[in-house]
Amino acid sequence: MTAVAVKDDIYWVGAVDWNVRDFHGYSTDRGTTYNAYLVKDQKVALFDTVKHNFKSELIHNIHQILDPTSIDYLIVNHVEMDHSGSLPEMVELVKPEKIFCSANGKRALLSHFHREDWPLEVVKTGDEISLGSRTVQFIETKMLHWPDSMFSYLKEDRLLISSDAFGQHLATSERFDDQLALDELMGHAAKYYANILLVFSPLVQKLLAEVTAMGLDLEMIAPDHGPIWRTHPDRIIAAYDRWSRQEARAKAVVVYDTMWHSTEKMANAVSTGLAREGMDVRLMSARLCHRSDILTEILDAKAVILGSATLNNNIMPRMADIITYTKGLRPKGKVGAAFGSYGWSGEAVKHLNAALADIGIEQVHDGVRIKNVPDHGAYQQCIDLGMAVGRAAREALAKA
Ligand code: FEO
Repeated sequence: MTAVAVKDDIYWVGAVDWNVRDFHGYSTDRGTTYNAYLVKDQKVALFDTVKHNFKSELIHNIHQILDPTSIDYLIVNHVEMDHSGSLPEMVELVKPEKIFCSANGKRALLSHFHREDWPLEVVKTGDEISLGSRTVQFIETKMLHWPDSMFSYLKEDRLLISSDAFGQHLATSERFDDQLALDELMGHAAKYYANILLVFSPLVQKLLAEVTAMGLDLEMIAPDHGPIWRTHPDRIIAAYDRWSRQEARAKAVVVYDTMWHSTEKMANAVSTGLAREGMDVRLMSARLCHRSDILTEILDAKAVILGSATLNNNIMPRMADIITYTKGLRPKGKVGAAFGSYGWSGEAVKHLNAALADIGIEQVHDGVRIKNVPDHGAYQQCIDLGMAVGRAAREALAKA
C-alpha cells in the first residue's frame, strides 16, 4: 500500500479491501477500494476517509506525503461508513480547521457520530472554497448514493472527485483505468450501477444534465471506489447516460428456481424459444447465481422471465429474494412472463405474474404451468412462451 500521485500535489491515499465479499447484499467478488484523496496546497485538504478497519492504512499513506496534523480541511462527500468510518480518528488526529459537508451531510454526521463540537461547515451546489492555488467547487448529488452525497470539483486540475458515482467495486494494485482492461472495468462499473444506482436513474439523468449545464471541464474522474478514470472519463459518462435512460437491447434474462428439475427443464425450453426469436439469452438459476449478478444482466435486458416450482402454495424462497431485490432497484421498460411446475396446487405462476406487475415488468403472456414433469407438449408450450416474449421484446425495441 502506498500513496499514489493523481496529479501534481494530489494523491490517492485510500485503502484496498481485497477480501470484502458482501456489500449490503451486493457480491463483491473482487473486493473493493475506499478511495481518499489528499490535496497539498496552501491549505491541505483530505477528501473522504476510509472504512474504519483501514484507518491505519489511510494514516500511513498520508504520512508518505506529509504530516497528517498539517491537514487543514476535511471534506466529507458522503457519510456512509465506508467513507466516514475513520472520520472520528482523523478529526482527533488532524484537529481540522473546518469539515465541509452538505446540509444533509451535517445531519447525517451528527446522527452517526453525535459530535456537536466538530467544526462542520455546510456547503451547497456552486459554493467554492480556495485551497490557495486551487478552487474546490461543490455539487450536491442527493441520493447518489445517499441524501448527503456531493461531488468536489477541483477547477484548475479539471478533476472531479465523484464519491460513489462512476465507481466500481474492484480491488486492484493499479489505480487508473488505463492500467486495466477497459471491457472488464466497464463490466464492474455496470454491476455497480445495476446494484447501487439503478433505482436513482432519474436523478442520474438530472445530474448529468446539471453537470453539462455547469460546463464542467473534466479531465479526470476520481470516484471513491475502484480505479480513477484518467484516460476514459468519457466512456463512463456515456455509460451512465445509457444506463440511467435504462436503454435495453434484444437480451432476455430467465431467472428460475426448481425443486426436482422440472422447472429447470421448462427454463431451458423457454430459453430455446427466446433464442429462436434472436434474443441474447441469460439463463440464471436463482440457486447458483448471486442476486447482484442477476441484476447486472437485467440492466440492459429487454425481457425478464421468472420461473418457479410451487412450494407450500408459494414460490421458491430464492425467487422471493430476487423479486424483492429487483423491485427495490426499479428496472424500467421490460417485458416478461412466468412459468413453473407444480405437484398439486400450483400457485407459483400466479404469484410470479403478480411479482412482474409489482416490479413494473409488462406481462406479455399468461404463463405456463406444468403438473410434475414436462412432456413433449409442455416443452412446446414453454418454447412458445419464450418466442412470444422474444417477439414482444423486439416489437417494443423497434418502437423505442
Ligand atoms: Fe461507498 Fe454509499 O458508499
